[in-house]
Amino acid sequence: MAARISTWRAAALREMGLGPIWLKRGSHEQEPFVPEATAPTQPAAEPPPAKARNQARSLIPSAPGPAPAAMAVSPAAASVVAHSVAVPERKHARQPSPPQQFLQPDDGERLARIETLDWAALEDDIRACRACSLCERRKQAVPGVGDRQARWMFVGEGPGAEEDQRGEPFVGQAGRLLDNMLAALGLDRTQDVYIANAVKCRPPHNRTPERVELAACLPYLDRQIALVKPRLLVALGRPAAQALLDRELAISAARGKRFERQGIPVVVTYHPAYLLRNPQDKAKAWEDLCFARRMMAGEA
Ligand code: URA
Repeated sequence: MAARISTWRAAALREMGLGPIWLKRGSHEQEPFVPEATAPTQPAAEPPPAKARNQARSLIPSAPGPAPAAMAVSPAAASVVAHSVAVPERKHARQPSPPQQFLQPDDGERLARIETLDWAALEDDIRACRACSLCERRKQAVPGVGDRQARWMFVGEGPGAEEDQRGEPFVGQAGRLLDNMLAALGLDRTQDVYIANAVKCRPPHNRTPERVELAACLPYLDRQIALVKPRLLVALGRPAAQALLDRELAISAARGKRFERQGIPVVVTYHPAYLLRNPQDKAKAWEDLCFARRMMAGEA
């Protein structure tokens, strides 16, 4: 069984274009993930059987201490702070600049209402939302998917064509890479992972969501975070990071730093769609995932 898990993880890393890099370096971070350096190549990262997934997950140490307590959900009240952390490969990372109210505050009444919604009401609200113009061209809104008690929450940018069609985030090509990134961490989207987007409706022609759209959707994301209460948030790409951190930033500058939203640690990495276009940066994304994993383990 162990060999099967390793093979699956190695295949996931290879799919990210990472396996050989990590195997050659002999980094301490690779060991729990790819214990068998000579694992035979497999063509695809097939999801492992449930038992294997559970065993793989058990390789990831859980963070000490209790899950975050009840949290404020108002964006204005959200705690958005950053700390320097010791990341070996980025020793001289600078402190990010303080929050600058990047997104506009939302209408108070709507915000107060969304803060009270349970899962069913929240998803209904998202599906019926007309708070910004993205509603006009969507086929359907895409609330989120996954384990509602997850420790890991991944936040993307917004639905693309396939997601708009199917009503589920990350089901297209970028989603397949995200699945492989999760698999490399011993995770999958059905267990201990929740996936949401910064905006729930597809921007026309897959353009980047505008500030006003991110701001209109932020109460939904905040409510999802408050309901899931993850131990860690991973922002995939710039719009997701800007929404979660309420500030203008560049991924390259924010990588390797620990931010917070609602008292929950946030780490930032590249969006899978960016990585498909820029495979040379997959190794950096893997560094970020290792950083996230250390954070989850309470080691960063
Ligand atoms: N890109 C995203 O950011 N989200 C999706 O759901 C799909 C692609």
